[in-house]
Amino acid sequence: MADNTNKQTHITLADGTVIPQVGFGTYKLQGQQCYDAVRHAIATGYRHIDTAAVYANEQEVGRAIADAIAAGEITRKDLFVTTKVWNDCHGKQATEKAFHASMQRLGLDYLDCYLVHWPCQGNGLYTETWQTLVNLLGFGTVQTIGVCNFYPAVLDEIIAATDVTPVMNQIELHPGFSQATLRDYHQAHGIVTESWSPLGRGEMIEHPVVAAVAEDTGKTPAQVIIRWHMQLGCVVIPKSATPARIEENFDVFDFELTDGQMARLTALDGDDSAQKRRGPDPATFGVNQ
Ligand SMILES: NC(=O)c1ccc[n+]([C@@H]2O[C@H](COP(=O)([O-])OP(=O)(O)OC[C@H]3O[C@@H](n4cnc5c(N)ncnc54)[C@H](OP(=O)(O)O)[C@@H]3O)[C@@H](O)[C@H]2O)c1
Repeated sequence: MADNTNKQTHITLADGTVIPQVGFGTYKLQGQQCYDAVRHAIATGYRHIDTAAVYANEQEVGRAIADAIAAGEITRKDLFVTTKVWNDCHGKQATEKAFHASMQRLGLDYLDCYLVHWPCQGNGLYTETWQTLVNLLGFGTVQTIGVCNFYPAVLDEIIAATDVTPVMNQIELHPGFSQATLRDYHQAHGIVTESWSPLGRGEMIEHPVVAAVAEDTGKTPAQVIIRWHMQLGCVVIPKSATPARIEENFDVFDFELTDGQMARLTALDGDDSAQKRRGPDPATFGVNQ
């Protein structure tokens, strides 16, 4: 297995926090499979793990981290760990309780990044929830805070209400759904874009344009897509339960897409066969969910 630990790239967030650009997604990983996948990701060199309360795997993620530390593979400070507050825990008291419950399940004494999972506009509590994350920052158990699935109207609102801009917005982004407008907004506000479902839930790997660019580069379709995210300036968190794919997705630091190859992949936004969103629309998702 190629050791890419020291080749990996990092992004500095607006508050100075440094985040490994390629992280490991854990949505749908459960139980022993989750534990094994996270251990394998750490052994492969990933130093950034993305989980969430709603994934119901924080305990396994935490156990994998603890065992990797105990085995001498990493130290806690080598790792960047993100978790998220779910939609049914918005509002000051519920969010504080959710944060402490996540910390307990993860078994960590500090968290690198806490995110609001969805704005959940129907609940009307996203500003209070964001303010609660801002307050949590002051206690020192979380290093940095951000949001997921926020769009300009709700970003404007939370920034105006709290005077604190999220350092990162984790959004659905993949070839076929490159989110140019939202990325421009992020850039103007110093927010780093983090791509979820970066492989389009695995489906974009099959696309003929991706396959053609992969053939040109001699890399695999997944590697080409992950590199596209990196060259857009995004943090990217591919998920896999499969050891060989976990390694493949992290072997992305020794090649570059040309401007032409980048443009071909970005142009899939205009291609019906690339299918746009895989997940729900944040403007309507998450009312009491
Ligand atoms: N904030 C949010 O609202 C939100 C929403 C969704 C996801 N996320 C985060 O983003 C992470 C990634 O998104 P995702 O899990 O939805 O989708 P994804 O990473 O785009 O795709 C995962 C799928 O692709 C397959 N795959 C992975 N690497 C592959 C490779 N090299 N070749 C072929 N197939 C490959 C996986 O299969 P196997 O596992 O079978 O190998 C799995 O079915 C999540 O795990 C989660 O951490 C956040």
